[in-house]
Amino acid sequence: MLKNIDSLGDLTGKTVLLRSDFNVPLKDGVITDDGRIRAALPTLNTLLGKGAKIVIMAHLGRPKGEVNPEFTLAPVAKRLGELVDASVTLAGDVVGEAAQAAVDAAKPGDIVLLENVRFEAGETSKDDAQRQDLATKYARFADVFVSDGFGVVHRKQASVYDVAQILPAAAGLLVEKEIKSLSKATTDPQRPYAVVLGGSKVSDKLGVIANLLTKADTLLIGGGMAYTFLKALGYEVGTSLLEADQVETVKGYIEEAKKRGVDLVLPVDVLVTPEFKADGPVTVVAADAIPADQMGLDIGPKSQELYASKIASSKTVAWNGPMGVFEFEAFAGGTKAVAKALSDGDCFSIVGGGDSAAAVRILGFDESTFSHISTGGGASLELLEGKTLPGIAVLED
Ligand code: 3PG
Repeated sequence: MLKNIDSLGDLTGKTVLLRSDFNVPLKDGVITDDGRIRAALPTLNTLLGKGAKIVIMAHLGRPKGEVNPEFTLAPVAKRLGELVDASVTLAGDVVGEAAQAAVDAAKPGDIVLLENVRFEAGETSKDDAQRQDLATKYARFADVFVSDGFGVVHRKQASVYDVAQILPAAAGLLVEKEIKSLSKATTDPQRPYAVVLGGSKVSDKLGVIANLLTKADTLLIGGGMAYTFLKALGYEVGTSLLEADQVETVKGYIEEAKKRGVDLVLPVDVLVTPEFKADGPVTVVAADAIPADQMGLDIGPKSQELYASKIASSKTVAWNGPMGVFEFEAFAGGTKAVAKALSDGDCFSIVGGGDSAAAVRILGFDESTFSHISTGGGASLELLEGKTLPGIAVLED
């Protein structure tokens, strides 16, 4: 059982150390999707309502243990200040004098956001002692710890895992909600159960397929990884994204799917263009006829129909990763078709992965037409795979 905020007792006048996931997409320093910040509000408002002082730990990008102004949480602090009815101060560092001064100056009802925790090498260190040393410094700021950064609970990191072993710890409302919804797919899902996988982080996602083949009835593949599958079928993929060293592994997945009776669905047509840009010439070609000098950037119209029909006949659908480069209007069709099928269908629909959740909002879908939009990318995928997540295990009774 996950420990919840109530298990921490009376929080009046106490300082709560809160882990949030504010790893939001930015363009030229401007947040393009603030979904993760908004998702943190229920827990923040609950803690404020209980009369606590809040010290937030969060990361942005992967600054690799060094202070790098490119990854400052300043844009996040500004947006958070607009969304919450409390004073929000961004500390000048993570655990140094500036952070201590900001925490000391704050009163109950105030929020201090520590600078990007990944400016500290100990945060993501593989060395337990180095992580624990940093976690001890975080813990000195507060009385209790609330873990609400669902997107990062699959990481064994100081602000997620180690600090929970030092302070009394509990899951925040977002983590509770995510686990409750995602467990509808992981524990005895209503069948047929389909998983739609896309996105560009190909090597990350290929690894999850072996596990998903043991869980899902249908696996729909789109996005960058589709081309490695098409190659495994013996097709040429032109200049499309390809993990050449994974082709043999993927052949194994195709065989395994056959053996297990899993319906592994690949694009039957794709949209190709000569260069990676928004306004080049676009052609629809069959999946086995990609020209040598062109790249596939989206699934084609026949594939869109096929994927939509597979989704319509499923009772539980988990979707992680866009079908194409939806940021370019010309290549948004596949992602729109999948989002529409999920939004129209009466299945239990889970949208996971920062990119697909952002796609749903950017493409203008009504978020309430999906059963659950997860704030986690890797975290939701690892849960769907059936893995134990360190940041969750550490919050259990
Ligand atoms: C995410 O964006 O999925 C989370 O914030 C985790 O980020 P990470 O993959 O850099 O650990």
